[in-house]
Amino acid sequence: MFREIEHPQFKHALVTGGTKGIGREIAMGLAAAGTHVIIVGRNAETGREAQKIVIDQTGNPHVIFLAHNISSAAGRRELASKVREITPGGLDLLVNNAGFTSTKLLGREFTADGHDLIVATNLFGPMDLTRQLHGNLDEASQRTGERAHVLGISSTAANHAEITTASLEDPDFHGLLNRFFANKRIYGWSKRAYNLAIAKHAELYPDIQINNLNPGVTDTTFNQGAGGLVGLINKRFNRTISRLRNAVPPEVVANTLLALAATPDLPNGASFNMDLTLWEPRGRDIADPLLRQELWRVILRTSGVH
Ligand SMILES: NC(=O)c1ccc[n+]([C@@H]2O[C@H](COP(=O)([O-])OP(=O)(O)OC[C@H]3O[C@@H](n4cnc5c(N)ncnc54)[C@H](OP(=O)(O)O)[C@@H]3O)[C@@H](O)[C@H]2O)c1
Repeated sequence: MFREIEHPQFKHALVTGGTKGIGREIAMGLAAAGTHVIIVGRNAETGREAQKIVIDQTGNPHVIFLAHNISSAAGRRELASKVREITPGGLDLLVNNAGFTSTKLLGREFTADGHDLIVATNLFGPMDLTRQLHGNLDEASQRTGERAHVLGISSTAANHAEITTASLEDPDFHGLLNRFFANKRIYGWSKRAYNLAIAKHAELYPDIQINNLNPGVTDTTFNQGAGGLVGLINKRFNRTISRLRNAVPPEVVANTLLALAATPDLPNGASFNMDLTLWEPRGRDIADPLLRQELWRVILRTSGVH
């Protein structure tokens, strides 16, 4: 299916989470169009297997797997430094696709840096990689005379997680009842905050084109994530749940994301639905420019990403 639409020609692309699900299909589409693709994930076995599958299916030998953890500041630093070494002429496309949700009803996970794992993966990871690789993206923009792209994956879960400055300090609101399903809320929250972040990045980095796609429910193993009862149920009944929820095949999401990159004159910093109409979660946090500014300041302070 990925060969049916015309893909933009990028020289170098980096796809975080390119070893499974949506990310692997994005890597497939890019490799089929002749791009040199770097895929990133934590699990080396899955990564090497994905690299082989993409090379075998597309005939493009320029697919590299790098094992890095984008939820850690050190992992992102190492990844960015490696990418700078191996993308002469700059990076034409950064796909901030890697994402994580915990399916535990109760109990959160934290990174060695002390951040919530969901927030560190879905918000701080993409923000920091965009910042660290901005020089490379800029180099590609200058080489081609067109803006290099940064594309991210949002979620409809972002519709239900209004951001307040208190929730920025700690998205797991206090009180025992609130601790149930906190991970679900934090996931939506992290995606909503990343929507704010791309709008801000579009202002800060006008030389790059930065957009998000909201794919809707996609047929991957994403929700089997980190254990818990819900994770177990998802694992056992994945196919049935996907069918019942009308899940979209990951290659369709990948095609749409690449079509986004091929569409001229997109509003910078905007997010899109699968039919390429504009999408933005509603709420005062998103609509009020002063509040957005304040939220951005707190995001910078809590993430340590400057
Ligand atoms: N599936 C859906 O229904 C759905 C809906 C809306 C939005 N999304 C979003 O779409 C994106 C892709 O989801 P998917 O369904 O394709 O997920 P997936 O099949 O679970 O794949 C996730 C990818 O991210 C990598 N990853 C996770 N944490 C990482 C980390 N800390 N550092 C580096 N790599 C990491 C994983 O590799 P390792 O585990 O080896 O690190 C894997 O390659 C995510 O951002 C997700 O939030 C998905």
